[in-house]
Amino acid sequence: MSLNLQLEGKTAIVTGGSAGIGLATAKALYNEGVNVAIAARNQERLEKAVNAILSLPDSGAKVIPISADISQAADVAQVVSTVIEQFGRIDILINNAGSARAGSLLELDDEAFLDAWNLKLLGYIRLVKAVSPHFKSQRDGRIVNIIGGAGRTPRPNFLPGGTTNAALLNFTRGISKELAQDNIRINAISPGLTATERAETLFAQNAQSSGISVDEVKAQSLKAIPLSKVVQPEEIASLTLFLVSDLASSITGAEILVDGGQTPGV
Ligand SMILES: NC(=O)c1ccc[n+]([C@@H]2O[C@H](COP(=O)([O-])OP(=O)(O)OC[C@H]3O[C@@H](n4cnc5c(N)ncnc54)[C@H](OP(=O)(O)O)[C@@H]3O)[C@@H](O)[C@H]2O)c1
Repeated sequence: MSLNLQLEGKTAIVTGGSAGIGLATAKALYNEGVNVAIAARNQERLEKAVNAILSLPDSGAKVIPISADISQAADVAQVVSTVIEQFGRIDILINNAGSARAGSLLELDDEAFLDAWNLKLLGYIRLVKAVSPHFKSQRDGRIVNIIGGAGRTPRPNFLPGGTTNAALLNFTRGISKELAQDNIRINAISPGLTATERAETLFAQNAQSSGISVDEVKAQSLKAIPLSKVVQPEEIASLTLFLVSDLASSITGAEILVDGGQTPGV
């Protein structure tokens, strides 16, 4: 048996598709012949990402950048309407844009929590809501929410992100039953420490908050991972491809941890 993903000709939205896990996922989808819309705020970075994707071997698929702030409801609606306008359909949603602050509770103001919830929690929920009518009319839709290990295993210096991720796990499981009635599947991937710009930012914020060097924070983080390795964004992208393919047609409401064995418990 070969792993034939059969994704060619489909259309995907990847939020936060201009960097890190989102860009790796957009590249992987493009490689499979999927038309990809990448949404993020910074126009220049979006254009660079489109060029990077189009420099891959031609898969016959198209790539479009959409400049949008996913924390804004109007921008979410505009992302979905642009994709329908340009491609006539949406088959796949990769909810990925997120950027919660690290730091100890006493250093964080309400905004740190509200920003994290508004962008990632409400952003993911709004996108699921916006694509669902299209998926329903096709009786087919595939959603992957990139969540994060702190949803299950709270960390004291990462509460805006942890509370966001815990709520998203609840949402993913909760909505999966309702969406299943229309053959829409929704699953979560929870990455552990993954080699992206965001990971570097979090190292710096944690170092500042705990008064140790960035190198020390990195060494401590690596020590806590049983496989002693940082996850590569491409590993998250590969699992995402599998989950949005028909090979995973019986999987919905699941969360898969990709964290080098770091998450304790059952
Ligand atoms: N890296 C890790 O170790 C790790 C671990 C667990 C979970 N995760 C989760 O994985 C996801 C991706 O993380 P990453 O490490 O790949 O991040 P990253 O390298 O910082 O990339 C983030 C992407 O999201 C976009 N973005 C940020 N704020 C946005 C906004 N308001 N509206 C639209 N787009 C926005 C960024 O572009 P612009 O800034 O131009 O908008 C960029 O394209 C996040 O949800 C994160 O919580 C990451």
